[in-house]
Amino acid sequence: MIIVLVGPPGSGKGTQAQVLCKKYGIPQISTGDMLRAAKASGTLDPQYRAIMDAGGLVPDAAMIGLIDKRIDADDCKNGFMLDGFPRTVPQAEALEQLLAARSLRIDAVVQLDVSRSLLEERLIHRRTDKKSGQIYHLVYSPPPPDAELEHRADDRPEAVGKRLDAYEAMTAALLPYYEDKALLRRIDGVGAPAEVTSRVLGALGGSQAEGS
Ligand code: AP5
Repeated sequence: MIIVLVGPPGSGKGTQAQVLCKKYGIPQISTGDMLRAAKASGTLDPQYRAIMDAGGLVPDAAMIGLIDKRIDADDCKNGFMLDGFPRTVPQAEALEQLLAARSLRIDAVVQLDVSRSLLEERLIHRRTDKKSGQIYHLVYSPPPPDAELEHRADDRPEAVGKRLDAYEAMTAALLPYYEDKALLRRIDGVGAPAEVTSRVLGALGGSQAEGS
């Protein structure tokens, strides 16, 4: 199963991917996480680091190269969930070619819809546990006292506005691209995370979320 998760920054792609991937037994491929890991290990091109911190988009060619390598890993044999890729039409076209070369195709593109004011609120209060990668929200999903919390550089208010603007500009073309291919499933991303998971599973033709 190959699923693409699309949605503005803060719409819950990472939160949903962590649950859905466990359920389907497939890996989450988050280009944002891959870039942050490269940044943390000091291997990220300083130009890309500056782009990310400011809320811009890393060039398409670099992102396509990352995905080209990643989808050949052993854990991708039964499928994978792409979180944050593709973000532009050239990335979407390149993905289609990468998959076709491996006789694969996308099963569904899930778009999480959340209003801009709620997105800002979610991002500014997001914290991630450095050790486990678990995503928290200081109000809606408070972290345990022993969590080692990290506040992303691009979650500062000035970068958040730029990221939301970039997303709106980009989806103007990306969403119609997938709509034309009848792959797009629009999901209301507002509500408790488990409710959103149930909506996604419903749209994918799966069962209800475990434990809900
Ligand atoms: P990336 O890491 O992909 O960031 P993003 O798309 O901006 O998405 P986020 O991770 O910010 O949000 P999310 O939707 O995963 O929300 P989350 O689940 O964390 O990319 C970072 C950067 O890398 C980009 O800006 C770009 O520079 C670069 N990049 C990456 N991919 C690229 C590409 N393909 N091309 C070019 N550049 C690329 O949730 C957010 C908060 O809300 C959390 O606190 C969470 O607890 C809370 N929350 C989640 N769901 C709910 C809910 N239902 N109710 C209440 N709170 C909720």
